[in-house]
Amino acid sequence: MVGGIKFLLWFLLLSSSSFCFGSELDVTCLKTLQKSVIDPRGILKSSWNFSRFICGFTGVECWQPDEDDRFLSLSLSNLGLQGQFPQGLEYCTSLVSLDLSNNNFSGPIPLNITRQVTYLTFLDLSYNRFSGEIPIGICNMDLNVLNIQHNQLSGQIPRQFGEILRLTSLNVADNQLSGLIPSFLSKFPASNFAGNQGLCGPPLDDCGNANKACLGSRRINDEFIIGSAAGFVVGFVVAFYFPHMFIFSQRLHPYVYRIFFISWSAGAGLL
Ligand SMILES: *[C@@H]1O[C@H](CO)[C@@H](O)[C@H](O)[C@H]1NC(C)=O
Ligand SMILES: *[C@@H]1O[C@H](CO)[C@@H](O)[C@H](O)[C@H]1NC(C)=O
Ligand SMILES: *[C@@H]1O[C@H](CO)[C@@H](O)[C@H](O)[C@H]1NC(C)=O
Repeated sequence: MVGGIKFLLWFLLLSSSSFCFGSELDVTCLKTLQKSVIDPRGILKSSWNFSRFICGFTGVECWQPDEDDRFLSLSLSNLGLQGQFPQGLEYCTSLVSLDLSNNNFSGPIPLNITRQVTYLTFLDLSYNRFSGEIPIGICNMDLNVLNIQHNQLSGQIPRQFGEILRLTSLNVADNQLSGLIPSFLSKFPASNFAGNQGLCGPPLDDCGNANKACLGSRRINDEFIIGSAAGFVVGFVVAFYFPHMFIFSQRLHPYVYRIFFISWSAGAGLL
């Protein structure tokens, strides 16, 4: 019994000391971040006074306010910050929400962003000047919300985005993205993809309808045309000899429509 209590006390002591260690990591995180960004209005410089508890800092939210606790969210929106994506975030090991929106950040979103902010569920980088491609690593995060609209991002939306099963909100509007929108993302509103010259596919227009930038991705290959033509002929022959199948079998109707649609689109492609 006494041994058990002793063990419990040791356990509490050890876990509280690891808590302090964690907070030191948070301080390292914020100090590194503060040094790595350009802060023309001096907001971080004046409000982040490291002889006080970090939970009172501008933009820092903790699990329990007014305590020197692990913090969970960093909201640095609209502070006029500049420079590259902030450094030091890998020390913020309990960070689940990061908002850098409405600043003047530039340069790429780091390729190793997953290693820097592993446990994020909310990431808002919107209204900055981030450029380059969307790193595929973002797909390995457990994000619920990803806002990267109004930047200068280019390239395609990685197909692996379909693997972020928990994604409930995605906005990539007003960038320079191109190519086909991964089908899994078609559930999001068209306005969340608008303002990207080369982006196409649902929920936006079909690739090739009006969007010349996308023509490359819709080029119908020869095998497809031959296959469709063969399907067209077979469909006709079957329909000719077994018309009752088409008239009476409800179950076949979807296939019939599909054959006619494929034949029709292949025909249109050939012309
Ligand atoms: C930081 O906080 C300490 C303790 O509260 C205070 O003495 C000091 O003046 C503050 N420094 C700045 C730059 O505000
Ligand atoms: C953003 O940063 C660029 C230089 O990197 C500067 O020329 C521009 O004025 C800044 N814009 C704002 C709104 O601070
Ligand atoms: C991420 O990559 C940059 C270089 O591109 C490097 O300086 C940084 O240490 C890396 N961060 C982590 C957590 O791996």
